[in-house]
Amino acid sequence: MKENNSPSAVVSETNPSEANQSSTEDVQHHWQGVVKRRSFLKGLGIAGATLSASAILGNRADAETTRSTGKLSKGDVALLRFAAAAELIEADLWQQYNELGGVQGGNPAYIAALSNLDGDMAQYIADNTDDELSHAAFLNAYLISKGEEPVDLDAFRTLPSSQATGAKDIGRLTNLLKLNVDLSWYTRYRSTKNPDFGVNLKGPFTIKDQPAIPLNDSDTPPNQGQPVPPTTPQESRMQAIANTAGFHFAFIEQGGASLYPTLIFKATDPEVLRILVSIGGVEIDHFGLWHDKAGNAVAQPLAGVVDPETGLTFPDLNALNSELDQTNLILPEPCEFISKNLPDCSVIRPTSTKEGGAVATIIVPWSIVGVL
Ligand SMILES: [Fe+2]
Ligand SMILES: [Fe+2]
Repeated sequence: MKENNSPSAVVSETNPSEANQSSTEDVQHHWQGVVKRRSFLKGLGIAGATLSASAILGNRADAETTRSTGKLSKGDVALLRFAAAAELIEADLWQQYNELGGVQGGNPAYIAALSNLDGDMAQYIADNTDDELSHAAFLNAYLISKGEEPVDLDAFRTLPSSQATGAKDIGRLTNLLKLNVDLSWYTRYRSTKNPDFGVNLKGPFTIKDQPAIPLNDSDTPPNQGQPVPPTTPQESRMQAIANTAGFHFAFIEQGGASLYPTLIFKATDPEVLRILVSIGGVEIDHFGLWHDKAGNAVAQPLAGVVDPETGLTFPDLNALNSELDQTNLILPEPCEFISKNLPDCSVIRPTSTKEGGAVATIIVPWSIVGVL
């Protein structure tokens, strides 16, 4: 991999397939580099002072000339630190998917089952993983460049890995082996109702206590075929796991799509605003992509998969003849916004602090985390 002082170059300035092979190591390597530079700067007694973009982020010819100067406010630092923590969690989720199902992923049957949702799934998984790693690395490097503490969640990487072929046996921040996927986002973006007005929308079906990655090779052999529709119990099991992942991808990203607007409202420094707007836009882009792919798990010819072990069923949502379920209605339906006296508007929702802000991101079902 090309060496570069820019954190954003962690994975983006090289062949994506090379980058994915060792993304964890790459981040660790760059992270250590960032910390070393920080220690060096502290040694010079200037860590608390304003640092130029080139000092930390590299001498890029296209570096912006309108860098903010001076220390950030406590509030802006808190916004960036929260975003960094969310991105580290997001990256942990995506790294697990990428090891097994990315374009360099190590589990052929899982990749085949994911590909039944879209032939490009493996590439999209790899690219989404790259994006999250870059978000986390950039936010932490930016905090350091402003003399602030970065976020380090390594002490919490204690959850077990999958034992399936392709997964690294390392500690994780998140558990994809048994998870609930709140599907209210599916209905929310097809409805004219907005949770910011106190409306509680339910998803079209329930995914509870299900694996989103194969657990081991005994119930999901890594080299089995994955026909559409699946014909054996083991093929059905693997397809159900891939379908759960397909819905979880959209779930993760709609959480980010709501979080960033709530953070943006509170930022004061123009550069912090720019960072939050720019990263938040990519979260929305991710959500739009995965929203489309998830629908293929509940549309013909794949609809109807049943997990033989858990009974989880992926229905044919188009058979319901409802605009709240129709799979190709992936663009946000105009909904209530700001005031019921104003016309409906096609927007991200929720974006109120109560429903989509930092606290909600940790505890409400449609959040990135949603585990408390
Ligand atoms: Fe992200
Ligand atoms: Fe994302």
